[in-house]
Amino acid sequence: MADTFKVMDPATGELVQEVKYDSEEDINRALERGHKAFKKWSQVDAHERSRLLKKWSQKIQENKQDIAKVMTRENGKPLHESLGEVDYATDYIDWYAEEAKRIYGRTIPANTESKRIIITRQPVGLVAAITPWNFPAAMMTRKAAPALAAGCTFVVKPAVETPLTTIRFIELAHEAGIPEDVVQCVNQRGSVAGEIFTGSKFVRKITFTGSTPVGKSLIKDSADTIKHVTMELGGHAPLIVAKDADIDFAVQQTIASKFRNAGQTCVCANRIIVQEDIVDTFSKKLAEEVAKLKVGNGLEEGTNIGPIINKKGYDKIVKQIKDAIDKGAEALVGNKYEADEDKGCYFVYPTVLKNVDDSMMIMHEETFGPVAPIIGFQNIKEAVAIANNTPFGLAAYFFTNDYRTGTYLTENLDYGIIGWNDGGPSAAHAPFGGMKESGLGREGGLEGIEPYLETKYLSIGNL
Ligand code: SIN
Repeated sequence: MADTFKVMDPATGELVQEVKYDSEEDINRALERGHKAFKKWSQVDAHERSRLLKKWSQKIQENKQDIAKVMTRENGKPLHESLGEVDYATDYIDWYAEEAKRIYGRTIPANTESKRIIITRQPVGLVAAITPWNFPAAMMTRKAAPALAAGCTFVVKPAVETPLTTIRFIELAHEAGIPEDVVQCVNQRGSVAGEIFTGSKFVRKITFTGSTPVGKSLIKDSADTIKHVTMELGGHAPLIVAKDADIDFAVQQTIASKFRNAGQTCVCANRIIVQEDIVDTFSKKLAEEVAKLKVGNGLEEGTNIGPIINKKGYDKIVKQIKDAIDKGAEALVGNKYEADEDKGCYFVYPTVLKNVDDSMMIMHEETFGPVAPIIGFQNIKEAVAIANNTPFGLAAYFFTNDYRTGTYLTENLDYGIIGWNDGGPSAAHAPFGGMKESGLGREGGLEGIEPYLETKYLSIGNL
């Protein structure tokens, strides 16, 4: 295997940077260092850990413009989205810098006068993280910030497509004063790093954002040493529009959800389920707005939709569109592609498909691309049945101004994140995560620090 790998700009096919692969020995050494650093870091008081996290966040913000450019070059997303992601990433650090000071224990009344019962929380130990290419900054800080706040040490392996943002973030953590062995980055292919992480006696917790099949194998491989796991896996989000919804608002929010990062988002709407009474109006308005989105290099002013990350992603999207059209769907806009195989650049124009039905691949597989397939429904029960007909359960959205419909949908959709008249519910202060095959555990909010903490129960007797 080569010693290095190339980070390519998916919009131009240019080399951004060559990065050294860390060998198995390098990674094991990093894990051992992280393990050894744990004791000391866990004893640093919470207020000092909080101060260091805040300093890290500040350093990232000071370098925001440069980081965002690097992110756009390695990932392809429009520059304004990269800038937004830097803020989203520091939101996690800021939030957990505060939560570090609120890791509370409790006392429990004992059943005899001679005893006292005290519950304390302590960090789980060394955490190994594998992060995805679609949000190279925020998915990393969403794990690193609560881990460090809790007193854990942290080793991250970023995606080989987008390691540069993470490498820079880790450098800035060290510049902020977080010790080098406390937060480290290693570069390797996911399968190799996953095997080393899960097999290591030093790692106490694995946290992963990525596909469901990889998540399943990490869970299985973590079983031998009973590691803690947090898994943010695939999604297939339904977005329901009821006949009483504000249609213009629903169109605007559908675009915000569906076309963020060119649809390469686990939580993006993947099935647009619209009540028959308004399906024509909604589809027409959506297609009109989608036609205005500009496709191109994310560094160019005005770009809304950047390139698809690689050929594998592109082929999957094209296959799903073709399959839907072959089976009777109609493309109201899009169904247009640009692929330069020599350069490795792939663009899919934002596409709205109408007359979609359950026989189509797109209704059952995550697309990870800028395609909005619209399917009609008669009544709310039917909408719920369509929405829940998937092994995934990450995010669901619905648009209605009727509180009965909204309450029914909230209570019956089997999803971890629900947006009611909201196409963008993700936030550092709220719990992000899925049900069913979309994952285990939550990241963000009060819940997001829990997976990095153990509970210790102390019973004092003979008083
Ligand atoms: C993801 O797609 O994995 C995360 C997106 C988000 O945090 O909103």
